[in-house]
Amino acid sequence: MDKRKIIIDCDPGHDDIMAILTALANDDRLEILGFTTVAGNQTLPKVTNNLLKVEEYLGLDIPVYPGEAHPLIRYGQPQPAAHGESGMDGPILPEPVRKPEELGAVEFYRQILEREEKVTVVALAPLTNLAILLARYGSLAERIEQIVLMGGALNGGNINKCAEFNIWHDPEAAKIVFDSGIPIVMAPLEVCYAGGIMLKEVERFNNDAPVSRLVYELLDFYCEYARKRNWESTAIFDLIPIVYLLAPELFESRQGRIEIIREGEDTQGQTVFTEGDGPHTVLVDTERRRCIDVFFRAIRQLDRRYS
Ligand code: RIB
Ligand code: CA
Repeated sequence: MDKRKIIIDCDPGHDDIMAILTALANDDRLEILGFTTVAGNQTLPKVTNNLLKVEEYLGLDIPVYPGEAHPLIRYGQPQPAAHGESGMDGPILPEPVRKPEELGAVEFYRQILEREEKVTVVALAPLTNLAILLARYGSLAERIEQIVLMGGALNGGNINKCAEFNIWHDPEAAKIVFDSGIPIVMAPLEVCYAGGIMLKEVERFNNDAPVSRLVYELLDFYCEYARKRNWESTAIFDLIPIVYLLAPELFESRQGRIEIIREGEDTQGQTVFTEGDGPHTVLVDTERRRCIDVFFRAIRQLDRRYS
C-alpha cells in the first residue's frame, strides 16, 4: 500500500503530541515529511521547543519548520489554563540540543509542494501558516490533496459561545483556507468529544514503558481541566484527524460548505455549516471505543519499538 505523505502543522500542546505519536506508530501508512509549528496554544518559540523536546526524547529525526509567530491581524492569545505556561506542562524533559530548521514553514510548504504531486496537510492549530502559503503561492493550492484539520464547532464553542479555539485564534486565516477550494475534512469539537478518552482509561499508561510514561505524564496534566469539572471523559482533540486518516470508516460525516465568521464577541471564529455541494466534509460522530482503540494500539506499538 502506498504511504500517504503528510505534513503536520501544530502547536504542541498535549493533544498535538498524542496525534503525532499515533501517526509515528503508523509509519507504514503515513509518511511525515515534516512538522510545521505556529503560534496558538502558546507562543511560537514555546510550541516549537516542546516538539523538539519530544523528538529528542524519542530520538526522532523529522525536521521541524517554525512558522508564524502571530495571527494575521490580531494578537496571539496563549491558553495556559489548558496546556500550562510551557504549552506542554507535565513531563520534565531536558532542553533539546536539536534546533528547528532555518527554513520557515511557508517556504518548506512551497518546496515540498513544488516537488510532490500529492500532499495531505494535517492541521492541528490555528491556520496562519496555511493562509500565508495560499496568499503567497496560490497556484500551489492544487498540490494539496486534502487538509484534515482539528477545528470548528457545530453547536457551541470552547473559547467563546460559538467558536473553537484554533479557528477563533486566527479567523482571517481560517477564512482564506476554507474559501480556497481545497478539499477540507474538519473535525469539530463535537466529534472530538464523541471520540474522547475516559479519565480512568488514562491509568493504563501509568507504567514504565518509555512512550506510555510520556503519554501518562502529559495526559495526567491535560486531564486536570476535566477532573476539576467532574467530567468522566475528555476530548484529545488533535488525535481525531489522525484517527480519521487511519480509519475513516469509524466516522459519520456530512458534505457541504463552511463559512467562517470573523467578528463578534460570541461569534468570532464560528464555523457555519451548510449541507449540500461543496468542498468541505465535516465529521459529525464516531464510535468512541473503536476510535480511542486506534490510539491505545499506537502507544502499545511505540512502547515495543522504543523498549
Ligand atoms: O480547541 C482545541 C485545540 O486547541 C487543539 O488543537 C488544542 O491543541 C488547542 O490548541
Ligand atoms: Ca493543537
